[in-house]
Amino acid sequence: MHDLAAIVLAAGKGLRMQSEIPKVLHKVGGQAMLQTVCDAAAAVVDGDICIVVGHAAAAVQESMGSTYQYALQAQQLGTGHAVQQALASFAELPTAFLVLCGDTPLLRSETLLQLADHFRQTGAACTILSAMLPAPGSYGRIVRDANGAVTAIVEAKDASAEQLQIQEVNSGIYCFDAERLQQAIRQIQPNNAQGEYYLTDAVALLRQAGHLVNALVCADASEISGVNDRLQLAAANKVRWQRKNEALMLAGVTILDPDTTYIDDSVEIGRDTIIEPQTYLCGQTRIGSGCQIGPAVKMIDTVVADGCTVGPFAYLRPGTVLNEQAKAGCFVEIKKSVIGKKSKVPHLSYIGDAEVGERVNIGCGTITCNYDGKHKHKTILADDVFVGSNTNFVAPVCVGERATIAAGSTITKDVPAENLGVARGKQANVEDWAARRDPRFQQED
Ligand code: UD1
Ligand code: CA
Repeated sequence: MHDLAAIVLAAGKGLRMQSEIPKVLHKVGGQAMLQTVCDAAAAVVDGDICIVVGHAAAAVQESMGSTYQYALQAQQLGTGHAVQQALASFAELPTAFLVLCGDTPLLRSETLLQLADHFRQTGAACTILSAMLPAPGSYGRIVRDANGAVTAIVEAKDASAEQLQIQEVNSGIYCFDAERLQQAIRQIQPNNAQGEYYLTDAVALLRQAGHLVNALVCADASEISGVNDRLQLAAANKVRWQRKNEALMLAGVTILDPDTTYIDDSVEIGRDTIIEPQTYLCGQTRIGSGCQIGPAVKMIDTVVADGCTVGPFAYLRPGTVLNEQAKAGCFVEIKKSVIGKKSKVPHLSYIGDAEVGERVNIGCGTITCNYDGKHKHKTILADDVFVGSNTNFVAPVCVGERATIAAGSTITKDVPAENLGVARGKQANVEDWAARRDPRFQQED
């Protein structure tokens, strides 16, 4: 029998997002909110994670994959009803359940660990993760008795004027004893302002049955913020970027302006790398140490080795690899290409589907013509190739070691090692051109 399993509620419509995309799949810090919540839960539970899906269930399931167990809540009759569907999907109950919402992208696994510890140490039937909010708004309020013991959660819509003054709110995250939860869920009735089966009613029911319910106040209240609309989405992204920047800076990365630096959680950066403003680093991007990145650089799923220079104004797309001390300079776009050690693409180039060896210099304005309208083709440049400015490589094409490409060439055939490849119109100079255009310039003799 498992000690702790998780139920993640994600069946709601998320109306206020005004979106075709299910709310929980919107990204914060480069990751779907639901994924963040499930990752945090996975760090704490030993049992299964069951996601309750309903609205756009197929899309959510497809995005999250087969690591999880799913329970379908065909009609969204409330959070209590959602948990009931999840419970029915467990063949064997664990000792306890973590219950979470799929729209809290700032939650940390450390907080869930504290919640589970508090629950175990106090022997409670339920421990609520609560938070103190100066403006508690639409959150459910934690009601305590004269001794400070939790007695109920009251939804804002059902609360009295006095209860609305309470600043301790329900995060929607709980740890429940599994059997007690199951018993309480069966008793929940939809007699409230919204006509829903409220999970929060389980608290009062457990208390009435003589069980202990307590709350752990979350030290960082921002962690519990739920995202319901695009304003909250933007605010959550800001917090995640800020957290990531702080972690990187404390680990030895220089970030010149954290306010304009946007780095996904998944990105890794080595020490003494300098990140200049307006830089977006996304996905599975890994950057080594001692690099100079920015300003205005975007990288997606890119690997950059130690000592590289990228930018200003560079766009490195998935599958780009820069080996040690390589350079991708100003207005350079690179896609699915390996740039060898000490090789340089300094200005105004597009390099796609290419293998570039070591110490290659690519002149300004060089383009790989990698796409014929149907298929992508490779350009291979061996070590020590020198490419003159404004070259077009019509792929597939290979250039051998130490070959040179004359500036302005359109290369359609392979160039053997150590050759000079020239592919451009021959220059002709027309004598007396100025005079022919205008007799005033005729030379007197
Ligand atoms: C809920 C809590 C409230 C708490 C708040 C924290 C209840 C009754 N209230 O309110 O005390 O302060 O969360 O954010 O639980 N969902 C389903 N099926 C449903 C209804 C909801 O899966 O039938 C999911 C939603 O997709 C969402 C989560 O449950 O992920 C919370 O539902 P929501 O309707 O947003 O609850 P709140 O009104 O925010
Ligand atoms: Ca050109």
